[in-house]
Amino acid sequence: MIGVLDIFAYLALSYILYRFIRGIYIIIYPYLIARPKNLHKLAGGAKWAIVTGSTDGIGKEYAIQLAQKGFNLILISRTQSKLDSVKAEISKEFKNIEIETIVYNFTNANLNDYKKEILPMIEKKEIGILVNNVGLYYDYPEMFHKVDLQRTADIAIVNTVPVTCLTAAILPQMLKRHSGIIINISSGLSYAKLPYVTTYSASKLYINHLTSILRSEYSNSGITIQTLCPNIVSTNMSKMEESFFILNVKKMVQSSIKTIGIIDECSGTIQHQIQSSVFGLPEFFLNFGLKFQVKEFKKVADAERKKVDA
Ligand SMILES: NC(=O)c1ccc[n+]([C@@H]2O[C@H](COP(=O)([O-])OP(=O)(O)OC[C@H]3O[C@@H](n4cnc5c(N)ncnc54)[C@H](OP(=O)(O)O)[C@@H]3O)[C@@H](O)[C@H]2O)c1
Ligand SMILES: *[C@@H]1O[C@H](CO)[C@@H](O)[C@H](O)[C@H]1NC(C)=O
Ligand SMILES: *[C@@H]1O[C@H](CO)[C@@H](O)[C@H](O)[C@H]1NC(C)=O
Ligand SMILES: *[C@@H]1O[C@H](CO)[C@@H](O)[C@H](O)[C@H]1NC(C)=O
Repeated sequence: MIGVLDIFAYLALSYILYRFIRGIYIIIYPYLIARPKNLHKLAGGAKWAIVTGSTDGIGKEYAIQLAQKGFNLILISRTQSKLDSVKAEISKEFKNIEIETIVYNFTNANLNDYKKEILPMIEKKEIGILVNNVGLYYDYPEMFHKVDLQRTADIAIVNTVPVTCLTAAILPQMLKRHSGIIINISSGLSYAKLPYVTTYSASKLYINHLTSILRSEYSNSGITIQTLCPNIVSTNMSKMEESFFILNVKKMVQSSIKTIGIIDECSGTIQHQIQSSVFGLPEFFLNFGLKFQVKEFKKVADAERKKVDA
């Protein structure tokens, strides 16, 4: 006779097995097995791609690689001179691409300014791809109450409002065409409750949650919605040198673009996907380990600032 305890034991075992197989699958399938999808098909033939925060790091690299695939670009960032030089750089290499630029400082969440500066351009073009990339991080890890309040507000705004409002503004035309690609760049840091970079960690979880709800809300719309959660990439934001797990931005974007339409939420690269397996560990254990790590980062940053001040 099978008792309740036995049934629970079998259920627990099946669950562990499922988690294990799923863990292996998500590391291997998107990066080593799946064939990349045709982005123009997923975009429904619409020729324009928007990238926010596109003058540096991950956003700039998305812009370059989408141009390489034949998409026209709308680049949105804070600094006109940097937009101009990125536009010139991409135009020089890909001569048949059209590029528009919009200067916008996303710390400004005033919707009237969105309506004046950004939305008219978006409504005029057929947008096939939206890459919600812009994001703000800390200069250094710090206790919540010691962070400059303006910085805390800016991180909360820049990491949530643009991704929310631009997506909402773009969905009507994508729904009409029954196609389109929306990519929200979140972060591996969203998976953990990370102290000293509190607002960043929390704001990135907002992105995962919103994207995942919208994926269900628009599940039959033909629109591809992806959340990308990379770990550390060598850019001005992370200020870290490349290594096996700290990725070159070009390789990171190349690999991430190949996962569009294949997997809804992933790290973008096999290295970070392996690294992110740790996020499946029991929470208290994970939070303990990560707190230790951020504390180390904080010590190094504090020491460096002392050196500069002295
Ligand atoms: N680097 C990493 O290790 C890492 C890891 C996980 C996730 N991410 C995420 O990936 C995204 C891009 O990161 P990144 O490392 O490429 O950053 P980055 O090198 O610091 O580049 C940020 C880009 O955003 C623009 N930007 C910043 N603040 C802005 C504002 N207030 N208004 C308009 N544009 C603004 C910058 O424009 P200007 O040049 O005009 O200032 C720049 O083009 C972020 O969402 C980040 O959270 C990064
Ligand atoms: C963006 O706006 C913030 C205030 O919201 C300001 O402190 C910052 O200097 C602005 N940045 C640029 C490049 O205009
Ligand atoms: C992310 O993607 C979905 C896709 O439709 C979008 O609706 C949502 O507003 C985006 N932003 C966030 C913060 O998830
Ligand atoms: C980082 O910032 C510096 C100075 O603003 C710039 O020259 C450089 O191109 C930026 N990007 C990267 C990826 O280092």
